[in-house]
Amino acid sequence: MARAAANLVVVGSMNVDLVASVQHLPAAGETVSASSLEKRFGGKGANQALSAARQGANVTLIGCLGDDPDGRDYRNHLRREGVNCSTVTTVRGGTGTAFITVDARGENQIIVIPGANSALTAPALKVQRSRIEVAKALLLQLEVPLESAVEAIRLANGRQVPVLLNPSPCPADFPWDQVRIEMLITNRGEAADIFGADPDTLPDHVADWQERLKARHIRTLIVTRGDKSTLILNEDGCKRVATLPVKPVDTVGAGDTFAGAFATYFAEGMPMLEAVRWANAAAALATLKHGAQGGIPMRGDVQSALSRQEAKK
Ligand code: RIB
Repeated sequence: MARAAANLVVVGSMNVDLVASVQHLPAAGETVSASSLEKRFGGKGANQALSAARQGANVTLIGCLGDDPDGRDYRNHLRREGVNCSTVTTVRGGTGTAFITVDARGENQIIVIPGANSALTAPALKVQRSRIEVAKALLLQLEVPLESAVEAIRLANGRQVPVLLNPSPCPADFPWDQVRIEMLITNRGEAADIFGADPDTLPDHVADWQERLKARHIRTLIVTRGDKSTLILNEDGCKRVATLPVKPVDTVGAGDTFAGAFATYFAEGMPMLEAVRWANAAAALATLKHGAQGGIPMRGDVQSALSRQEAKK
């Protein structure tokens, strides 16, 4: 039987990424020369929406673009990628921009200038209430104003729409006591900032971590750890899911690829461990090409990579 496309709503940012390739990332006060400068589509919201669309989800993106040529190009790009952007508003001013430096090992540093992303207000989100309330899942990151993200979560909570939150960048003042999160998807640093503990200690201190989740109204925590296994924690305990071994050329957007892919599989009803295994593979493949969106694989590529891995066992 054909798989039904999951109806996913993503609330988030769209940026134009200006990417400088360097041998090593500059230390404070250091000047380094870049071997190239590229302009690419990025922003965590759009990266995640595109990842979901490439896995076959029916994706609606809620966010803001500027009324500049970058904003116009970005809207056309989203359309070509099959992301529903009728809910993307064009506002006066510049589209969000990110200055990204990528080193020879594929590691990166990012500075974001929010631009139009700041114009996504809580009242503007309320206007999209009907979209959010009928979604299979709501996926968010935090490159948009915090009160707007919280408003979207409240709308989803009001209709029992599962909320998947990638708390990136990680705010100190997220109101955990006011909302319910079905899945919190973090990397190591974000988990450490939110919970005040090293997530690598999680498998040995499950009860402590379960308390931390409970105190913040989070049902399940997923921690991606680069080439190490991804950790999953909920009231049933802790599980680890291995990643696909790869040699990355650019890790920008790998976390976004994971979040968008996982949200799609989750919304389709794929069992948790399987969904994480597939999302791990999608994220690993995304690091093999340059750019936040350039390497995001299609679903068929993820499936082939997993089949090849199985065949090697
Ligand atoms: O997660 C990667 C993204 O972070 C980049 O595309 C950049 O725009 C920043 O938002």
